[in-house]
Amino acid sequence: MPRRLAVVLVVLALTAGRSSAALVPSISNDLRGRAVSAFQAETLDGKLFTSEDLAGRSTLVNCFASWCPACNMELTELQTLRPELAQRGVAVVTVLVDPVETPDTVGEARRMLEHDPLPFRVLLMTPAMRDVFKYEGFPATYIINADGTFSTTLFGYHPAAELREATDDFGRGAAAASALGLGSVESAAERHAPWEGHPFAAFLPAGWKQWHPLVVHFPIALLVLEALCLCALVVSPRADLSRASRALLWAAVLSLIPAVYTGIHDAGLDLGPGSPFLNGLKDRAAHFLRIESSVSLHVLFGFATISLAVARLAWLTAAGEAVLDSRQRFVFAALALLGVWILFAGTQIGGAISHH
Ligand code: HEM
Repeated sequence: MPRRLAVVLVVLALTAGRSSAALVPSISNDLRGRAVSAFQAETLDGKLFTSEDLAGRSTLVNCFASWCPACNMELTELQTLRPELAQRGVAVVTVLVDPVETPDTVGEARRMLEHDPLPFRVLLMTPAMRDVFKYEGFPATYIINADGTFSTTLFGYHPAAELREATDDFGRGAAAASALGLGSVESAAERHAPWEGHPFAAFLPAGWKQWHPLVVHFPIALLVLEALCLCALVVSPRADLSRASRALLWAAVLSLIPAVYTGIHDAGLDLGPGSPFLNGLKDRAAHFLRIESSVSLHVLFGFATISLAVARLAWLTAAGEAVLDSRQRFVFAALALLGVWILFAGTQIGGAISHH
């Protein structure tokens, strides 16, 4: 078994440089105003496409990998926008990046696109095009003005509303882009996940934005396990189950501390200078009951989960074994199940915030 594990690790290490990951969503004006240099490419159906084909019409150029779920989602958004873009005279050209990213998937991508064609022209990415577009990864959407200059570039996945906003911005300056609320312009390094090209980097702690989604899994797992233990205890009271549920509740309450700290920190990250934790705390306190906001609702359910878990722990500590050995355990288990249900509601909203 250890030999097998060693072989797996060696294979992973040898293939480390090949891994690609979708870009972190961001909006950049780095290329804005620059002319698109001359290039040639082949379309999926073997026709020639040149940079001159971009002239005279605003164009949205979307780069996608055939095996990238974020790219697929963005292509679906583009198909929704298609009639509106066509009405506004905006052309859409898609670029399959498999030839430069993963040449071994090109054949499969061709078969897939023949079976399920896109309603857009599909170019095959070439190393020369990569230089012209200062291509960094996928998905990436380059907005090209009718005069052949770059406008805004959207890296990573963006929903239809943001793609629409970016095409509304044709020809305007960088200031206009930010006035439109197109988001912050991040540095090239920030656009790449730390484990892109280096899968083992995932063993090291990443930037702050990663921490809340990571640490929340501990209290979730512990509270669910505790509830299962209590259900078993309701059916047949046993000393080992009682000990296990008590230990699980302690562990869950302790693991809620980093979950809350990182949640408040993350919520304060984009709120300007100063301590992100204090920014987040003030902001969350000010909007605590604003239930029309997903983050507030998430925090409200999180708060209810914590209160119920802490109250049960206090009850258990004050009353000792009596709670889990007597008929009180029915009420205790019912409260634990109610807590898990509220936890489910809160994490459902948290997931929607993260994965939007
Ligand atoms: C009370 C303070 C909390 C705040 C301010 C907060 C804030 C946030 C924010 C801003 C997100 C979006 C993702 C991010 O950028 O980090 C999020 C996601 C999430 N939160 Fe919280 N949270 C809190 C407590 C909790 C608690 C107590 C739990 C559960 C034990 C929880 C579970 C989650 C989950 C599951 C996600 C989605 C993670 C993912 O799937 O990526 N949160 N939270």
